[in-house]
Amino acid sequence: MKAIVVREYGGPEKLSYEEETDPTINESQVLVRIRACSVNRRDVLTRIGQGLKIPLPFIPGGDLAGEVVSVGTSVEKFRVGDRVIAYPRLPCGKCKPCLSKQEDLCAHSSIMLGAYAEMISLPEVTLLPIPPNMSYDIGASIPIDFITAWNLLVTIGKLDIGDTVLVYAGGSGLGTSAISICKQRGAEVITTVGEEWKIDRAQAAGADHVINRKKEKIAESIMRITSGKGVDLVLDHVGAPTWQESLHSLREGGKMLVCGTTGGNQASIDIRQFYSKKLSIHGGLLGPREDLVTVVKLFEEGKLSSVIDSLFKLEDAAQAHSKMEHSEHFGKIILKPR
Ligand SMILES: NC(=O)c1ccc[n+]([C@@H]2O[C@H](COP(=O)([O-])OP(=O)(O)OC[C@H]3O[C@@H](n4cnc5c(N)ncnc54)[C@H](OP(=O)(O)O)[C@@H]3O)[C@@H](O)[C@H]2O)c1
Ligand SMILES: [Zn+2]
Repeated sequence: MKAIVVREYGGPEKLSYEEETDPTINESQVLVRIRACSVNRRDVLTRIGQGLKIPLPFIPGGDLAGEVVSVGTSVEKFRVGDRVIAYPRLPCGKCKPCLSKQEDLCAHSSIMLGAYAEMISLPEVTLLPIPPNMSYDIGASIPIDFITAWNLLVTIGKLDIGDTVLVYAGGSGLGTSAISICKQRGAEVITTVGEEWKIDRAQAAGADHVINRKKEKIAESIMRITSGKGVDLVLDHVGAPTWQESLHSLREGGKMLVCGTTGGNQASIDIRQFYSKKLSIHGGLLGPREDLVTVVKLFEEGKLSSVIDSLFKLEDAAQAHSKMEHSEHFGKIILKPR
């Protein structure tokens, strides 16, 4: 099969399109022909060797959709030809969190890789069927961003009708997913963008208010928009450049939901403001498999949607990464194997 392989950490040119050995399956695994995979900032970071350092060489990618081409002898739920997506983590399936459907808390789990390829073998338990009305491109756009946004906003943040939410980077994969979830729950969304052309796109994606982060001070704009009250929730995946803005933007008792550091890892906070406003800060990494089931159902019912920015051939993964690193995208970038 053809796949993108990273043999050295570095720039987009390190994404090498190569002939690889076809994956094989054991009795509990399923072989999937990948029809679409999506690009995440995580793939850029692992390519550079930042954050989680994946041992070399590796095939990047954790978001995929495809069809089943063969199944192991003990596989019960899938047959050849089924259309599937995957829960993007490999939990142990045996520990207490796994047995209580909190796979995201499994200490023995590992990050899923290998989606930038024509085929992948996966344990049956990670797979989920996709509905007939869902394309492979949409399927591949869902898992990492929607599970994370759902877990933080709905499960941890208790997002409610009428809440006001600040979602950073309305054009990011995570941002478009979070906006869709907020609108589905009846919340008001304020988002940020780094370019004027993204304002219309953010409004079309459902944002009620859009702040150009390069022209406005975020917390000041939030206070103007909310008449000095502040927002109920902030979804912060930017990190160092935005933490202070996030704390200033929250109302008394508001929650800051954190899942990324695109702009840097080290932030300092005004501790007095933090406790005197009775704020709370919650971290999140993905979420349980059950959240993916919930989200896919809402997609099937037309209650959630993804924004697709562009499609690239798998062999052009370097161009796709370059587009993401220059923030020239709005929504998900999809890679298509042949
Ligand atoms: N914890 C988890 O489980 C989890 C899951 C998914 C994603 N994440 C994290 O969430 C982040 C977003 O991921 P993604 O794949 O959606 O990324 P993405 O599509 O590449 O979007 C990142 C966007 O952030 C904006 N940005 C960059 N610097 C900024 C700054 N200083 N201030 C405000 N906005 C800034 C840029 O948009 P503009 O230029 O338009 O502002 C950029 O396009 C990443 O850090 C990723 O690792 C974590
Ligand atoms: Zn486990």
